[in-house]
Amino acid sequence: VCGIFGVVFAERPGRPLGEILRRGLERLEYRGYDSAGVAVVDRGLVVRKDAGKVAEVARRYGFDALQGVAGLAHTRWATHGRPDQVNAHPHVDCGGVIAVVHNGIIENYAELKEELAKRGHVFRSETDTEVVAHLVEEYKRQGLDTFSAFRKAVSRIRGAYAIALIDAENPQVIYFARHLSPLIIGVGDGFNIVASDIPTVLDHTKRIIAVRDGEYGYITPTEVYIEADGVPQDAASRVEEIPWSAEMATKGGYPHFMFKEIYEQPESLASTAAGLEPARLEAAANALLAARNVYIVGAGTSYHAGLILAHLLPRLKLTPVPIVASEYAAYEPLFDKDDFAIAVSQSGETIDTIKAVRAMRERGVRVAAVTNVVGSTLSRESDLVIYTRAGPEIGVAATKTFTTQVLTLSALYVSALRLLGYDVAERERELKAAPDLARRVVEKTAGTAKDLARRLRQKPSAYYLGRGAALPVAMEGALKLKEVAYIHAEAYPAGESKHGPIALVEEDFPVVFVFSDPATREKTLSNVAEMKARGAFAIGTVPARSDYAKKLDVAIEVPDAGELTAPIAHVIPLQMLAYFAAVERGYDPDKPRNLAKTVTVE
Ligand code: F6R
Repeated sequence: VCGIFGVVFAERPGRPLGEILRRGLERLEYRGYDSAGVAVVDRGLVVRKDAGKVAEVARRYGFDALQGVAGLAHTRWATHGRPDQVNAHPHVDCGGVIAVVHNGIIENYAELKEELAKRGHVFRSETDTEVVAHLVEEYKRQGLDTFSAFRKAVSRIRGAYAIALIDAENPQVIYFARHLSPLIIGVGDGFNIVASDIPTVLDHTKRIIAVRDGEYGYITPTEVYIEADGVPQDAASRVEEIPWSAEMATKGGYPHFMFKEIYEQPESLASTAAGLEPARLEAAANALLAARNVYIVGAGTSYHAGLILAHLLPRLKLTPVPIVASEYAAYEPLFDKDDFAIAVSQSGETIDTIKAVRAMRERGVRVAAVTNVVGSTLSRESDLVIYTRAGPEIGVAATKTFTTQVLTLSALYVSALRLLGYDVAERERELKAAPDLARRVVEKTAGTAKDLARRLRQKPSAYYLGRGAALPVAMEGALKLKEVAYIHAEAYPAGESKHGPIALVEEDFPVVFVFSDPATREKTLSNVAEMKARGAFAIGTVPARSDYAKKLDVAIEVPDAGELTAPIAHVIPLQMLAYFAAVERGYDPDKPRNLAKTVTVE
């Protein structure tokens, strides 16, 4: 999973091109960060790249001083080949005039490499990407102009890709292609940009075009040309204005994006609530109620949000089938035209989720997407889309996108209840109050979460236990702690914990109990007693002014909430706990090792 950024200007910009590329890379770093590189065309092609974080590589190689009118930049998250200098992007052809950056995986690169090697091409790296530079070089040698050579090269590659390529012999053109991996164009005045995502271009322009699967083309300072299957597309009619400000995509004074995004939840929930369109919700709710099976599919945090909905559906006499996206194949025999699926993905680009959705739709399942990214692949490949509108999430660990997913899915549930004739006034009030609830949670729980993080600092592992709808909240809390603080954390149904996991519990072993589900609180208390009897350090998120706090060693008191919004209220202190634990342990929570924000490989 990598980030790409390319820009072409009519004339040398006011600031050195290298500095513009470096800033673009900093915005993209969340997509992967084991190496970084740039290529600029000035009086020839200049490539600078190495393993390391953007700031380090940029400093070491003087990115900020590089001049030129067109350039590419790349931040890499290794899929083929170790993270080192040769494998870092951009990759160049033998002649040293073509440079390419790529996000995704070229599945047939080995055979292409062999074919090209036979024709005398010498490869420097172990990457799949390098074949693209050589393919274009090869077709140019055969007499094609650069765009024709690029088009032909793209037709030869299979897999997932967002590609940008420059040719020093045609210095004011950037060629691009997209299949499965995200790619957008930023439309400027006297310049144009290609990039992996929207926040990266917001410093320069708010006008974007989402490139679709199978499309390729080129940008010049004044032109955007897009083609699909040899047919020119009407690019001009696809320009969209993005309502986010560049400020919304930066840290805004907070020490980390994760911190900012946790604190921003009242605001993002308000934005979600305001943007929910009753007609869309109702269309989805109708399809839901008419369905035989309801599949709820997603990965990681998005899967956890889906599980919260799964917990509610039996009340509507519906059969939820929650599916971890990468495991969809086992359920394929079930998929049928009478079924309905809800696919949850903040990025809308997670390949596991997209593949599952494709398999479902092939068999006639109607799919509603719940996503945060307008124009994402998932949004385009679903029958219905409900946007969460949480604003851009830059921290790798999902926080505000989770709570906004929960709110959105709860609104869908309420819409279904209404269609069934229930009085939903009370529940609607509850959903409306979610932003204010989140504000109170953030204010009231930060202190305890921070103190607790200090106490967990040296712990090697922890359990997170919950019953009923509290289980997905526990799962989410455990995932956050693992991801950013690197503390082993395991979530279990609280009742199941006595069937094995309790064997690990000894003096001071941390066990976090989640009391978000009103229906299961009493029973959870008996699990607290079992764990405490073995010496566990019992922690819990509990409703304020209740007796539950007394049974625990440390209680994080959460303002009382209805059952639909309690998961939001209880997960926020768990997000904070993970965040503060990461900081206490000296890690950068925005850049957890081995992780990438958008996982576009299977
Ligand atoms: C956890 C996290 C991941 C994602 C997962 C799915 O903090 O960020 O587990 O939730 O990769 O991503 P999306 O929602 O973009 O499909």
